[in-house]
Amino acid sequence: LQKMNNIHHENENQSNQLRRELNDVEPISLRTFTPSQAVLAKSAGSFHWTPEGKRLFDFTSGVLVANLGHNPIRWTERFASYMGWSCRSGVCPGLSKNADSDIPDGYFAAVTMTAYNGVTEVEIEASKRLRQFLQACPGGHRLEQVMWAASGSEAIQKALWATMAKDRNRSMILATRNGFHGKKGLAGAVSGSETDSERDPRVRFIAFPTKESIDVDCRDTHFDVTPFREELDRLWSQFGMKLGTLITEPYLGGGGSFHPPKAYLKMLQDFCREKDILFILDEVQANFGRTGHRFAFETYGLEPDIVVLGKGLGNGVPVAAAVGSKAIFDALTYGEGSDTWSANPLCCAAVLATLDEFTPDVLEKARAVSALIEETLVRLKDFPFIAHVRGEYRGMVWGIETRDWKGSTAAEWANRIVLEAYHGDTESNTGVHLLGPLSKKVIRVSPPLTITTSEAREGMDLLLRSISRLAPERPCNTHVVRDTVHV
Ligand SMILES: Cc1ncc(COP(=O)(O)O)c(C=O)c1O
Repeated sequence: LQKMNNIHHENENQSNQLRRELNDVEPISLRTFTPSQAVLAKSAGSFHWTPEGKRLFDFTSGVLVANLGHNPIRWTERFASYMGWSCRSGVCPGLSKNADSDIPDGYFAAVTMTAYNGVTEVEIEASKRLRQFLQACPGGHRLEQVMWAASGSEAIQKALWATMAKDRNRSMILATRNGFHGKKGLAGAVSGSETDSERDPRVRFIAFPTKESIDVDCRDTHFDVTPFREELDRLWSQFGMKLGTLITEPYLGGGGSFHPPKAYLKMLQDFCREKDILFILDEVQANFGRTGHRFAFETYGLEPDIVVLGKGLGNGVPVAAAVGSKAIFDALTYGEGSDTWSANPLCCAAVLATLDEFTPDVLEKARAVSALIEETLVRLKDFPFIAHVRGEYRGMVWGIETRDWKGSTAAEWANRIVLEAYHGDTESNTGVHLLGPLSKKVIRVSPPLTITTSEAREGMDLLLRSISRLAPERPCNTHVVRDTVHV
């Protein structure tokens, strides 16, 4: 922790000053540890720039948020237009002095930014369009109503409140072990495992096939669901009708990027249907294209009772939602899912802009770039300190797992890689922005879906060259991207 307080990099006077100021005014607990602690002055598309003008390939999309890239012009114009701020020419008509005598001086007329207990058209439009978008996907037909929230964990909390209220005698929840659904309230209760402190007695954890999905090489290997099903049957024998909800992520994100065989998730869903247990799929991270389709329930052939959305839903504006069957949400009454920010017009406008811009074309291009990125990531296993590469087939999310090597722990190697990628290439003043490692030793790679082929090539080349500096005696072919991948 002490080290984090003192992060500074050579030749970054402005950034170092800002890091010092940050440490003075904010507690360190507000951030997860990232050894680079990049200071971001501006962003566009797949890039950030530091105050010193260093260009960073953003291989994080925030934290899988800016799926459509940073500050896309069309998205922003649509967002502004839904709010009634349209200003394509640079001068917002609404913002100039208003001719309408009803408008008080110093104000302009546009969509309200807060409509607590009021009704706005933008909210209804966003709910209708989101439902339509989800129901148009195979497996989305149960998703009838939108329970808005301001963060992923809040949406998880609301989804669980609803399923637990549906039958108050069945308030026990099954959750996949070492999953991550957020830190607060019930989202925290269904995250992690039984060995963590302060467990909620209503939650029981079930195994997730992490060994079976340890590497992209395992993707098409035989998978036996039997032991996983047996565990569920044992829990059913023990708790029976007390069990009312099962929640899982489609892939373990924060838990280390484990992407399971389809048969596993299908088995969970079948169990739920057999026992009349409600099935919640947490797509806060996976939604809007990360798994190669619009939603992971399409990728994995599922029909969740509730799907939880967040991150990419607002492309940077903080918004989340639990979308599910009306019969479930009907179990809650006035006020039980309400709060100051949920369904506020600003968030709804952002969702509408995302729905407008998230066209089939975005996915198609992303799938092609995905092939290129994965081909290169797999080569990283040539480095002795890299154990595994995991990810979604034709998706835009991977994890690189490090291992202990040459007297350094896997965690140390992972942090070194993040730092070295940030340092990047001094000559061109370019680096790669990565998140601090997941589970201490898994490096997340999740660029915006809109990254172009040439940007991906250049970024991956830079990543390879940076990592190569950590093992000069074990060189890796740094031209692999250009030479072998055809997209
Ligand atoms: C799968 C998943 N669910 C829920 C959350 C919590 O979302 P938030 O941080 O917006 O509360 C996250 C955040 O990383 C997540 O990855």
